[in-house]
This record gives sequence, C-alpha cells and structure tokens, in this order.
Amino acid sequence: MKVSYSIPSLDFSAAGKASTEVKRLLGRLGYGQGLVKRIAVAMYEGEMNIAIHGGGGKAYIELEPDYVEIRLEDEGPGIADIGLALTEGWSTASEEVRSRGFGAGMGLPNMKRNADSMEIDSKPGAGTKVKMIFRLPSQPAA
Ligand SMILES: Nc1ncnc2c1ncn2[C@@H]1O[C@H](COP(=O)(O)OP(=O)(O)O)[C@@H](O)[C@H]1O
Ligand SMILES: [Mg+2]
Repeated sequence: MKVSYSIPSLDFSAAGKASTEVKRLLGRLGYGQGLVKRIAVAMYEGEMNIAIHGGGGKAYIELEPDYVEIRLEDEGPGIADIGLALTEGWSTASEEVRSRGFGAGMGLPNMKRNADSMEIDSKPGAGTKVKMIFRLPSQPAA
C-alpha cells in the first residue's frame, strides 16, 4: 500500500497533518503502538522540516509486509553539512520560527533515533531527500 501527502511551506495551521493521518492509518491497520509512535514522531519532525526549511514538499509512505518506508522530499535550499545538521541542538531556524516553539535542533537526531535506518540525500540548491525505514517485528512461524 502506498500513500502520499503534499506538505505546504510554513503553514503552521496545517503543521503535523500528514504525520497525524499516517498515525491514524497505521493504528487502524493494527500496527503495534510502539512502532506507530516511532513512525509518527519521526515523520512529524520530517514534515516540519519540509514546512520550515524545505519550502514545502512531499511525503511518500510505503507499507510493505516487513517494513514501512517513509520518504520526505523537497526542492528547497538543501543542507550544506549533513553531519552538522544531525548534531543535537544545531538549527538555522529563524527567530520567528523559534518564537512558535520550533527550531530546537532536535528533529533530525530524533528521526535518526526513531527509525531503524535513515539516509539523507541533500546538496545546496538541489533540495533534500530523507528516507527512513521502520522494520516490522517478525511474525513467529505458524
Ligand atoms: N528539508 C530541509 N531542507 C533544508 N534544511 C534542512 C532540512 N531539514 C533540516 N534542515 C537543516 O538542518 C537543521 C537541523 O534540523 P533539525 O534537527 O530538524 O532542527 P530544527 O528543525 O529544529 O532546526 C535545520 O535547522 C536546517 O538548517
Ligand atoms: Mg526540525
């Protein structure tokens, strides 16, 4: 099963809409609570990064029998130093964004912690693609 969402730029009234919908969908499909929570937290952070830093973009969710894949893609300014961006507390968020309670610099570290694997593909001027994989617990053989 595949679903996708458009994430608008800097629309704080829509903040977290896509991740909330994915959380509901996974819950309805019977995914375990802990897994749903990890996916929702990581996707929320990625969604907010697209809205705040990426100029808007798309989220693609793919449900496979043994994993969930989430791809977050934008055509924004890109990230010059990915290692630095992954540092806890590092943020380029504006004062305006910080005054709304965002920009603590914990989003990417949190995404990495919650996902089983995460890849960032980004270059200045070439946008940003983040791919996260969440493995499903293996089913005992019948
Ligand atoms: N999609 C993106 N496009 C451009 N820059 C990004 C993107 N996502 C993250 N970044 C950069 O990485 C930094 C760290 O991101 P993050 O850990 O989520 O912290 P925060 O969003 O609170 O600044 C951001 O401040 C920004 O400079
Ligand atoms: Mg962030």
